[in-house]
Amino acid sequence: MAAYTISVIHGDGIGPEVCAEGVKALKAVGAACGHSFAFTDYLAGGAALDKHGVPLPPDTIKGVKDSHALLFGAIGGPKWEKVAHHLKPEAGLLQLRKELGAFANLRPANVHDELLDASTIKPEVLKGTDVMVVRELTGGIYFGTPRGIDGEGANRKGYNTEVYAVYEIERIAKVAFDIARLRRKKVCSVDKANVLESSQLWRDTVIGLHKQYPDVELSHMYVDNCAMQLIRNPRQFDVIVTGNIFGDILSDEASMLTGSIGMLASASVGGPVGFFEPTHGSAPDIVGQEKANPLATIATVGMLLRYGLKLTAEADLVDRAIRQVLSSGLRTPDIARPGERISTTRTVGDAAAAAIRAAR
Ligand code: IPM
Ligand code: MG
Repeated sequence: MAAYTISVIHGDGIGPEVCAEGVKALKAVGAACGHSFAFTDYLAGGAALDKHGVPLPPDTIKGVKDSHALLFGAIGGPKWEKVAHHLKPEAGLLQLRKELGAFANLRPANVHDELLDASTIKPEVLKGTDVMVVRELTGGIYFGTPRGIDGEGANRKGYNTEVYAVYEIERIAKVAFDIARLRRKKVCSVDKANVLESSQLWRDTVIGLHKQYPDVELSHMYVDNCAMQLIRNPRQFDVIVTGNIFGDILSDEASMLTGSIGMLASASVGGPVGFFEPTHGSAPDIVGQEKANPLATIATVGMLLRYGLKLTAEADLVDRAIRQVLSSGLRTPDIARPGERISTTRTVGDAAAAAIRAAR
């Protein structure tokens, strides 16, 4: 029995709808396992911009840092697309990752047998796919300097810098090797070392660190080839480790193997407080319609328990509940086949919470 304080940033769009179901799942875990979770809400993204004029108010940073873990919904939307770059909801998200020192972003893409038909890729290619993308999150071209837009007329230039230091590469590679040890012990490091110096250093550094992990099999792939291999034969991958922008792109691609981005969780760890968010965005097109799939957020709660609070049995309980919900046939529109009955966000969330409670 333990007491935890959990920060919740509902955010924008469908964020509040899916977060409500995540909180419900966590309360069910508390009831089933005898833990107490105290929730505090904070603002970020468009909601914060509207109220305080900034996408990440200082109170939010402080409150989140004082908690055990952060459950995050989604931010952004058409309403804020025209605001200045540094005030965009997305800027708040990037700043929060940096503030929390959350340099390791874990994005699992595992294909549930029940959803084999939901993907646009052939079921026989997908069956058994279970990939963990480990994306570096606080470095690379997202944060590198110099950056900017300057000059005049046809010579006006926009530029960014892809830069990685050895310590940044070593710490993310270590996360990948450690996770691989808990899985099938294979790491594929993805770079563009045939063209980019930053990638050459990336590759050399990963090879160096691998000496400490002789039990883990290491391979290397160029990012373009990896994009192809993920579609051609996704089962070949166990853990993929890569930089910020390659990871951004490959993790969206990997998500489509599972049929819907509405199924995918993520964890951003490495700092003192972990940051847990569904991989999908704020989906402004379906706000308030009870169409959002809460399973990504509920799976995110599983990751919060596993990687944030180190409560493995509790995390397993959540993952089992998700499988139960799927085998009971409940489907939000994103994962329903034509003609299948559609359930609401809340119905799916209630079923998951009930399955967690029943498992005590
Ligand atoms: C993601 C998103 C973000 C990113 C955006 C919203 C800044 O695409 O979490 O993958 O690029 O990191
Ligand atoms: Mg992305």
